[in-house]
Amino acid sequence: MKIVDAETALEVVRSGMRVYLHEAMMAPLSLIDAFTERGRSLRGVEVVHLHTNAPAPYVAPDLDGHVRHNALFTGPNVREAVQAGRADFTPVFLSEIPQLFKDGTLPIDVALLQLSPPDRHGFCRLGLSVATARAAVDHAKIVIAEINPRVPRTLGHTGVHVSQIDYAVEVDRELPEVEGPPIDDVARQIGDHIAYQIPNGATLQMGIGAIPDATLAALHNHEDLGIHTEMFSDRLIPLVESGAVSCRKKTRFEGRIVTSFAMGSRKLASFVDQNPFVEFHPSEVVNDPREIGKQHAMIAINSAIQIDITGQVCADSIGDRIFSGIGGQMDFMRGAVWSPGGKAFIALPSTAKGGSISRIVPRLDPGAGVVTTRGHVEYVVTEHGAVDLRGRTLRQRAEMMISIAHPDHRAELRRAAVERNICC
Ligand code: COA
Repeated sequence: MKIVDAETALEVVRSGMRVYLHEAMMAPLSLIDAFTERGRSLRGVEVVHLHTNAPAPYVAPDLDGHVRHNALFTGPNVREAVQAGRADFTPVFLSEIPQLFKDGTLPIDVALLQLSPPDRHGFCRLGLSVATARAAVDHAKIVIAEINPRVPRTLGHTGVHVSQIDYAVEVDRELPEVEGPPIDDVARQIGDHIAYQIPNGATLQMGIGAIPDATLAALHNHEDLGIHTEMFSDRLIPLVESGAVSCRKKTRFEGRIVTSFAMGSRKLASFVDQNPFVEFHPSEVVNDPREIGKQHAMIAINSAIQIDITGQVCADSIGDRIFSGIGGQMDFMRGAVWSPGGKAFIALPSTAKGGSISRIVPRLDPGAGVVTTRGHVEYVVTEHGAVDLRGRTLRQRAEMMISIAHPDHRAELRRAAVERNICC
């Protein structure tokens, strides 16, 4: 491990290389800046990553032809570039991303990471995300790491030995903080509908957004809950502190919370620091549907942009416009349905844009990306109730979906369903 400055380290990047960035809260700011500057003098460099909580200067129009971003999950900082066609989007299950790095489908030339300083055994820690970073650090040809004493020493499969690091850049910088979305009345009602369906002893996965957060807030009187989720957020801390989470009933990783990445405040970073109750594992482990299916009473809670009356779930785009990504939704939807006593929820407000449009539609918008197919969907929940579509005909589904649509949009949905010959 050579200690250098960021500019010197980034000299290893050459035209045509693929560069990986550590995701979420761990995006290494000084390396991003030096990489962007280095990119100006190169051609055809690809930068690949999940969402990052950091600026993304490499997607600016003046980097066109020099650096091109490949989004494995489209975060707010790269959304405009993806939608404008200056950056690419790869639809992929979170569980399968590490394999792409390993098997040569997306080989990584240079991995840019942020790590804790080494411990007395020479191991740095991947901090708040191992999701795809584990595979990147293990399979990249060259590893460059910011070493930051503020990075929590998280436990699990997080250790990176100094011998794996080619260049280290020392920094001392606070990690970013991410505020959870506000929980409004609609999210609260949806959270209550889901919480009612969750038995004591269940194991939970929560996707992104206000609804999973609202559900957590409604679970404080539950007992012996387990957590097995790709994302760990601030909202889990009060649930753990309320005594509702023991992980005793888990059949995999018994007695431990398991996650792939944590996103939130400094309190969260401190909560997971050297905490033996929280283990970080890469996404091919945490999100493996076969493993999830073996968990006792696995509850998956994910959200959607739009869902049609037959149960096709659009979650990664608004029509043609890419909004996010597949992430872990299908991994957990599939696994939860296989789990004994498990349930898979797609939960969404019945309307968007101040009630003017229904999110339950007769047909998905042109270009809408189906993340959960109508063969995989199970429970759908809005503020108007919960329905279980599994094993139901298109006609039954249309009736059920109309029953949980906003009352202002039900008549129109029924007319469209009749037109499609799937409702009478
Ligand atoms: N038509 C037009 N616009 C719509 C819309 C629709 N049917 N549905 C939502 N929108 C807009 C909203 O108005 C909002 O716009 P704004 O940001 O300008 O306010 C935006 O889309 C996001 O909607 P919102 O309901 O606030 O999203 P969310 O933060 O609750 O997240 C998903 C919902 C579906 C985007 C998110 O769960 C996701 O990315 N899922 C895919 C992957 C996944 O589930 N992974 C599991 C965890 S990794």
